[in-house]
Amino acid sequence: MSKMEVKTSLLDNMIGVGDMVLLEPLSEDSFIGNLKNRFDHNEIYTYIGSVVISMNPYKPLPIYTAEKVEEYRNRNFYELSPHIYALADEAYRSLRDQDKDQCILITGESGSGKTEASKFVMSYVAAVCGKGQEVNKVKEQLLQSNPVLEAFGNAKTVRNDNSSRFGKYMDIEFDFKGDPLGGVISNYLLEKSRVVKQPRGERNFHIFYQLLSGASEDTLKNLKLDRDFSKYNYLSLDSATVNGLDDAASFRTVRNAMQIVGFMEDEVQSVLELVAAVLKLGNIEFKPESRVNGFDESRVKDKNDLKEMCELLGLEQSVLERAFSFRTVEAKMEKVSTTLNVAQAYYARDALAKNLYSRLFSWLVNRINESIKAQTKVRKKVMGVLDIYGFEIFEDNSFEQFIINYCNEKLQQIFIELTLREEQEEYVREGIEWTNIEYFNNAIICDLIENNQNGILAMLDEECLRPGTVTDETFLDKLNTVCAEHQHFESRQSKNSKFLTDHSLPHNCFRIQHYAGKVLYRVEGFVDKNNDLLYRDLSQAMYKANHSLIKLLFPEGNPSKVNLKRPPTAGFQFKASVGTLMKNLLTKNPNYIRCIKPNDKKAAHIFTDSLVCHQVRYLGLMENVRVRRAGYAFRQAYEPCLERYKMLCKQTWPHWRGPVRDGVEVLLTDLQVPVEEFAYGRSKIFIRNPRTLFFLEEKRRQCLEDLATLIQKIFRGWKSRRQFLLLKKSQVVVAAWYRRYAQQKKYQKIRCSALVVQSFIRGWKARKILRELKYKKRCEEAVTTIAAYWHGTQARRELRRLKEEAQNKHAVSVIWAAWLGTKARRELRCLKNEARSKQAVSVIWAYWQGNKARRELKRLKEEARRKHAIAVIWAYWLGLKVRREYRKFFRANAGKKIYDFTIQRIMQKYFLGLKTTTLSMSPIDKSWPAKPYGFLEGTHQELRRIFHLWRCKKYRSKFTKEMKATYEEKLAASELFKDKKALYPSSVGQPFKGDYVELSKNPKYQKLNSLVEDKVLLADVVSKINRANGKGAPRMFLLTKNNFVLADQKTGQVKTSVPLPDLSSVSVSTQNDGFFALRVKEGATSAAKGDFLLSSDRLIEIITKLHRIGSASADRNQIKIDISDEFLVQFKQDKVCVKFIQGAPKNGNGVICKRKNNRLLEVSVPSP
Ligand SMILES: Nc1ncnc2c1ncn2[C@@H]1O[C@H](COP(=O)(O)OP(=O)(O)O)[C@@H](O)[C@H]1O
Ligand SMILES: [Mg+2]
Repeated sequence: MSKMEVKTSLLDNMIGVGDMVLLEPLSEDSFIGNLKNRFDHNEIYTYIGSVVISMNPYKPLPIYTAEKVEEYRNRNFYELSPHIYALADEAYRSLRDQDKDQCILITGESGSGKTEASKFVMSYVAAVCGKGQEVNKVKEQLLQSNPVLEAFGNAKTVRNDNSSRFGKYMDIEFDFKGDPLGGVISNYLLEKSRVVKQPRGERNFHIFYQLLSGASEDTLKNLKLDRDFSKYNYLSLDSATVNGLDDAASFRTVRNAMQIVGFMEDEVQSVLELVAAVLKLGNIEFKPESRVNGFDESRVKDKNDLKEMCELLGLEQSVLERAFSFRTVEAKMEKVSTTLNVAQAYYARDALAKNLYSRLFSWLVNRINESIKAQTKVRKKVMGVLDIYGFEIFEDNSFEQFIINYCNEKLQQIFIELTLREEQEEYVREGIEWTNIEYFNNAIICDLIENNQNGILAMLDEECLRPGTVTDETFLDKLNTVCAEHQHFESRQSKNSKFLTDHSLPHNCFRIQHYAGKVLYRVEGFVDKNNDLLYRDLSQAMYKANHSLIKLLFPEGNPSKVNLKRPPTAGFQFKASVGTLMKNLLTKNPNYIRCIKPNDKKAAHIFTDSLVCHQVRYLGLMENVRVRRAGYAFRQAYEPCLERYKMLCKQTWPHWRGPVRDGVEVLLTDLQVPVEEFAYGRSKIFIRNPRTLFFLEEKRRQCLEDLATLIQKIFRGWKSRRQFLLLKKSQVVVAAWYRRYAQQKKYQKIRCSALVVQSFIRGWKARKILRELKYKKRCEEAVTTIAAYWHGTQARRELRRLKEEAQNKHAVSVIWAAWLGTKARRELRCLKNEARSKQAVSVIWAYWQGNKARRELKRLKEEARRKHAIAVIWAYWLGLKVRREYRKFFRANAGKKIYDFTIQRIMQKYFLGLKTTTLSMSPIDKSWPAKPYGFLEGTHQELRRIFHLWRCKKYRSKFTKEMKATYEEKLAASELFKDKKALYPSSVGQPFKGDYVELSKNPKYQKLNSLVEDKVLLADVVSKINRANGKGAPRMFLLTKNNFVLADQKTGQVKTSVPLPDLSSVSVSTQNDGFFALRVKEGATSAAKGDFLLSSDRLIEIITKLHRIGSASADRNQIKIDISDEFLVQFKQDKVCVKFIQGAPKNGNGVICKRKNNRLLEVSVPSP
């Protein structure tokens, strides 16, 4: 709370009161007095609650600096002294933070500072919203669209040196962060009549003067223009230069702005050409020329301007000249051409100039929109800024003023709707105690103008579309009848005769009591301006221009798109677009800036009380204050309110279980907010004082900080724990690996030690054995020595005894001999011992050497393995180094390239390889090289198929005619018998020779040969089966084209000759036998003997040939071939059944045919 008290500077150092709500006592005088007091102290902004009143200071004030922007940034609305920035900041923040689309409605009279205010709002928003290269570009483009539109759409009027002559609504679009994405500009009705004529003391649109003053000599020369304003009819001279306006500098600003917005150099050029063309057009003058029929026809006076204009626009001079002299009226396929008189020609010229300019303006707006439109499709938040022409009362008011004022009426409606009516209605709806406050509702005036049945605009349209003569007077007459009773409509001739004596009301005028005052409108020009007619000849002439922009501006001039329907009238279009605008504004959260003009002289320091009082009244500002004072500054539905502040009280945080209203009550009681600060509505809580709201907000902000800390704490804890668990897991893995490594090391060490111990033990064992052996040997030696001693003692005792007994020679020799023996034995033992120890030494030596060699070998092996390992590691490392070295030289797609290259090489190699392999040309050769690569499988098989087809073709192409016939026969045989008869496979290899008996060469058959007239197709010996016993008898079988013949094999004598047409069918079995029955048609001459049962090895050939003869001749039926293991044969009178059975496997004697009974012949065929 203490912090807040420091900040409340709205009340500190206040001049008068900053918020009219605080005014005491509240009266019109004190209201105006307060405004004046503040104005005198350069405090031009004053609040009525959240509405900003702005007085035009008519002098630059130091309150729009960057420091001011920083001061107001992110501060509460009532925290600092009133400023337009506070409103802009509030709107921007609630757009960004609460996701509410905003609109800023700036209203006031012409010259009251609306356009300036809109620019301040835009520049503030640009300054506080996001930064960054892309964002700055968008901002720059949005801001720079202003100078361009102002140059083309603003002009000096008596009220304002820089008056907007068009309405402008700009939607600035933001993303969720509040960064600008782009914008959309809508323009409303440019006052185009200004192009051809300006009221006294006013100027044409700025661009004309800017171009002539600011363009370089070169540019002017290109545009065929002269710097002198006085050379142009369309430029008024009495205020050609305006104090404080530097046209030349402005021109540079405009060109620069166009460049920033994104106009191409050639587009700028086209635009300037069009501006120049309008100036030229104004200089074209006409003179009358009498015609024979008595009518005057107009002619262009001095063709130089016309010529130059046509050159500028790439028009053909004659086309335009004709369009100024004639008018073609098209109606239902008929074309009537009438001449124009001088007045009509001027009218046509001016209409063209107006249209050219206003269409250029619309094109500019569209072009700017194209540049500044948001590039993304994401959902956008929108802030709309509406700067529409102010309420205008001139001496002479025409259609334009009527339209402008209508628009202002509509805006006032919105204001009334949203601030006065809605607010009061809401209190009633919410059941808050409320005394109603009266205010003037201008809906009745809007209705007078826009009502579809009897509104002034509807009447005007009706009049314009009516057949017959229509003039401004007939229009006024109509109004006099229809609107007579309306209390805001006044006219001298009004049917209720109320104003008959009112001399302030001229006859050709009507007056409307607007909310902002009475305005007298002259009806002259209403019909024309509403019709907005441009002769079709002119639009068609324009369409023919060799100038891309002009062509674009006059699409209706395209002769292929002639549209006989009237275009909608200007009034209708305006009403529609204003309707859309109002609908759009109603969907957004409104923020009001109400501009007030302190004096009529555009002068600083002058405060004209009466003028201000008038504005305060019609703007309904007093009512606004009253409603505001009686009401509550802030309201919010219970639910969002509780949601927003619930963290401020223990009972409501984190969840309140009861009804929300009770929750809010608990909350506010807990916070100890004074009771008179609140009212509980049905669905909303109403807060009387903004300060209370700020108090809540501040508390919430502090609380949020604590909550954020809590969330951070928990999150950090969670994050650290996760990190710890991860570390722990890694540690376990590392430890496991390390343990393994340590155990390995330990094992190796133990193993080494074990080996050392082992070798020591082995050495010790060997030494022990050696010692034992040595001891054993010594023992043995001792025994021998003892024995020797003992033997010596024995011998000496014997010797002594012998010596003692006889001392004879024999004893001596015996002793001698014994001693010699001993000596010899000793000698022998010595030798033996020596040899044994020698061998032992060599064995031990060999053992020791082996041991040493093995140890050496092990060491060498180890060394070699280590060396190899080092080499391998070195090679790997080198590879790695090289790859690392060269990796940077490879592009990302090297892999793919290498892959492609490899594949290409493989394919190349594959195809070249195929080229060099010699492949067999025999169609039956099944061999084919193995596929070299798995992925070529498909190709490889396809190539094989193609190659096979090709070699078959090659093979076929080598056929002679005979060979072809033979193969055809073979093919026929295959079709007939393949898989049907077991004999068939054996016939495939046999060539079909036809003549097997060499008929012509064999003298035996000379006679037979001469008997047969036709060429013999087949001649062979067959067996004729006897029906009686089933035995076969050899017969000569001849087949010609027309018959077959059976003849004696030996003599050649013909036995039977049957014409082929007499044969009905042939029967054969499915088995591997040569039996066939030739069936003769019943009733044929040769049928007397019955059918023929024959057998031949060449059965396949015979039947194939028979079948082919039948199919070759057209007149004969094809012979039928039955294949079955049982068929009937007609012998003379009897029918005998021939049945085939599978016999025992082949054992030499082949097929056996036996007669079983009268009716059955059984053929047993060995099974294969
Ligand atoms: N806040 C302001 N500070 C200084 N001069 C201002 C301010 N507002 C308006 N003016 C002056 O008043 C003139 C008319 O303002 P403008 O915004 O064009 O009026 P409107 O658009 O309402 O017709 C401007 O050219 C400018 O000289
Ligand atoms: Mg303006």
